[in-house]
Amino acid sequence: MKVLILPDEHSAMQRAADIVARTVRNKPDAVLGLATGGTMLPLYEALAQRHRDEGLSFAATTSFNLDEYIGLAPEHPCSYHSYMREAFFDRVDIDRTRTHLPKGDADDPQAASLEYEALIENAGGIDLQLLGIGQNGHIGFNEPTASLGSRTRIKTLTDSTRRANQRYFNSFEETPRYAITMGVATILASRKCLLLATGEAKADAVARMVEGPLSAACPASALQLHAKATIILDDAAAGQLTLTDYYENVHPQGRDSVFD
Ligand code: GLP
Repeated sequence: MKVLILPDEHSAMQRAADIVARTVRNKPDAVLGLATGGTMLPLYEALAQRHRDEGLSFAATTSFNLDEYIGLAPEHPCSYHSYMREAFFDRVDIDRTRTHLPKGDADDPQAASLEYEALIENAGGIDLQLLGIGQNGHIGFNEPTASLGSRTRIKTLTDSTRRANQRYFNSFEETPRYAITMGVATILASRKCLLLATGEAKADAVARMVEGPLSAACPASALQLHAKATIILDDAAAGQLTLTDYYENVHPQGRDSVFD
């Protein structure tokens, strides 16, 4: 794992935006795996700004989002479809016909999950998968004890995840119980992974992901198996790591190492 520690959220997001921009410039038709959540909002803002100011183009890219709530239509204001439109798709030149999210309102969510896997495969797989992390160590909606070999499927959300996401809904009861999510193995099949975590609330999950045992109890720890996983943290999210001196030594202020 490449652990990059930046002094604050802003510099962490700029660092992440550099990596996304480099991917798209090197391969204009890159397949991007996209993520939702509060952490990602300033990253999408930074990418939209680079589109406006520097002409960074997403016109030839294809995208696949990690997950979507079951039962929410794309037009629902709390759906991840809406989130992506508002945070990113409407602000850059991405071709909407090549953006994909799981169909949370499908009559048969199980069949929709299988179709989603097939779509990713037909697109040639994901070049760069963006990820956030839940306070309980989830990635996508792969909650603790999710199979490390899992593929896109239906997951039941934990109460702690529902409570964390309740802020977007009117009440806990209204917060969806189920989601379609890429599986841990789907995520690991991406050619590169880029996980972002900011703020003290993520420090425990980050320490378990990076320095804890590989375990379904912390699905994000599965990234230890990925050959090209970059973890971008601000100081607060890195607060419970014990090998910080080493990460700083290899990547001073989150810069590339001499061999990158
Ligand atoms: C949701 C999403 C995850 C995201 C997590 C953390 O549960 N399904 O993909 O990483 O929330 O969100 P936040 O960045 O708001 O803390």
